[in-house]
Amino acid sequence: MTVPERIILIGFMGSGKSSVGRILADRLGYELVDTDALLEERAGAPIARIFRERGEPAFRALESEVLAAAASRRRAVIATGGGAPAHPPNRDFFTRGDVVFHLRVSLENARKRAGENADRPLLAQDEEAVRRLYQGRQPVYQQLGQSVDTDGKTPSAVADEIMRLLRNPRKNHLPGERA
Ligand code: S3P
Repeated sequence: MTVPERIILIGFMGSGKSSVGRILADRLGYELVDTDALLEERAGAPIARIFRERGEPAFRALESEVLAAAASRRRAVIATGGGAPAHPPNRDFFTRGDVVFHLRVSLENARKRAGENADRPLLAQDEEAVRRLYQGRQPVYQQLGQSVDTDGKTPSAVADEIMRLLRNPRKNHLPGERA
């Protein structure tokens, strides 16, 4: 099979982008580029601290810089932060023709997997705010990526499913097309 130079993973917090990305990268002999980790490295601070001390707009600006840097990586699986696709300045990164998979997770499972994690400041908001965030992002994820269900599946099973889709490119999502 011809594997694309870059495979981008999107999805809500707790959808398993980093763990699925790790498995996928290992299977393909690709590098895993985890944009949250790169951002923390660049900023020299954990995400929660960036949000707390500098605010979300500063975090989003850093995130856009990291995405721009990741765009030229080759043979890479790129696991992106859950909010990156919803931030309009990042649109080009997700629509320029790379293969994008949306790891779909129910809100209930997202909460379970991510927990009330202090590392994810946006999940620490009240329940209604998190629900709004989740619902508002679903159409964006669906528009930008081919959806792969993750509920009730291990990261390894999700990676298997993505490998199957990569082997069958006719079924692959074309940019701008709905899954
Ligand atoms: C965010 C998701 C997080 C991280 C930051 C903001 C979001 O990444 O980028 O806390 O806006 O959904 P994960 O999706 O990897 O948890």
